[in-house]
Amino acid sequence: MGELRGTHVPVLLERCLTLLAPALDRGDRTTVHVDATLGLGGHAEAVLRAHPRTVLVGLDRDQEALAHARARLEPFADRVHLVHAVYDELPQVLDRLGYERVDGVLFDLGVSSLQLDAPDRGFAYSRDAPLDMRMDQTRGRTAEEVVNTYEAPDLTRVLRVYGEEKFAARITASILRERARTPITSSARLAELVRDAIPAPARRTGGHPAKRTFQALRIEVNGELAALETALPAALDALAPGGRVVILSYHSLEDRITKRALAARARSTGPVDLPVELPGTGPTLRLLSRGAELPSDEEVAENPRAASVRLRAAARIEEGRGHERRWAHERQ
Ligand SMILES: C[S@@+](CC[C@H](N)C(=O)[O-])C[C@H]1O[C@@H](n2cnc3c(N)ncnc32)[C@H](O)[C@@H]1O
Repeated sequence: MGELRGTHVPVLLERCLTLLAPALDRGDRTTVHVDATLGLGGHAEAVLRAHPRTVLVGLDRDQEALAHARARLEPFADRVHLVHAVYDELPQVLDRLGYERVDGVLFDLGVSSLQLDAPDRGFAYSRDAPLDMRMDQTRGRTAEEVVNTYEAPDLTRVLRVYGEEKFAARITASILRERARTPITSSARLAELVRDAIPAPARRTGGHPAKRTFQALRIEVNGELAALETALPAALDALAPGGRVVILSYHSLEDRITKRALAARARSTGPVDLPVELPGTGPTLRLLSRGAELPSDEEVAENPRAASVRLRAAARIEEGRGHERRWAHERQ
């Protein structure tokens, strides 16, 4: 296992720390922070350093990432629990560890630099590798199986919906022609097929022509959106009053799910014409970000992986403060 720390700069690190601090600093009380996407442990290490009374529960579905994070977080081993799990398993993980409520939760979605840069994982269109793309290499279907076995309508739907790819049908046709001849097994061959399927003028805009197809296949292989749809409400349920959640999304589909999950709990579910909330109908979240926050130009210049990030954050409203009739927005 090589030294990877220097290759990965945690995205929007200072902003995440500022947002989480009020939830994790509770005087003498020990607080619990969940890093649902531990990766190489960059955000987790900074949280542990900043909050000596915080216990970390770190999840990742990628065992290689967990091994790197474990080595990195060794100095904090007495207050760290690292778990190989998909983040929608959070309730079971917390139950096993005996934590009923948590104070902080961070989701830094998507792939890690470890996964993107690995020569053998197949996530990157820019390097040749077997078409795997599983974040958890111990289970599930690979991208090679998706590309070589899906029926045309299913493949087109995956590319159109998860990749927001206008030329989905053309790319599918090209994949089907190729696989009738010989199976598609490498990321370089797939990238080439996609590039050739896209009309020349369109190739010149919007980054690498295969970017959207690779994103779509990764989302499909890892069931990413379904896991997020389940995991976010579960994480919000686990937050203690005053607890905070921060979510970093990297494409519009993730950000849309995040926005909806937070908005649903930041508004009243009671009748609109009543001046006061009925018990149990008030908002349970206060939004800490007005819309999605974007990275600064300086951050993107220093860390190109931050370019597409959208940050949203919210705080669980203290019990008994849900009676005011308002949308709660606060920037801090
Ligand atoms: C962008 S990286 C996180 C980087 C991390 N914040 C850091 O500072 O090193 C995202 C990580 O989340 C993991 N991941 C993605 N989806 C997941 C899921 N559904 N359940 C658990 N882990 C997931 C990936 O394996 C990857 O290691």
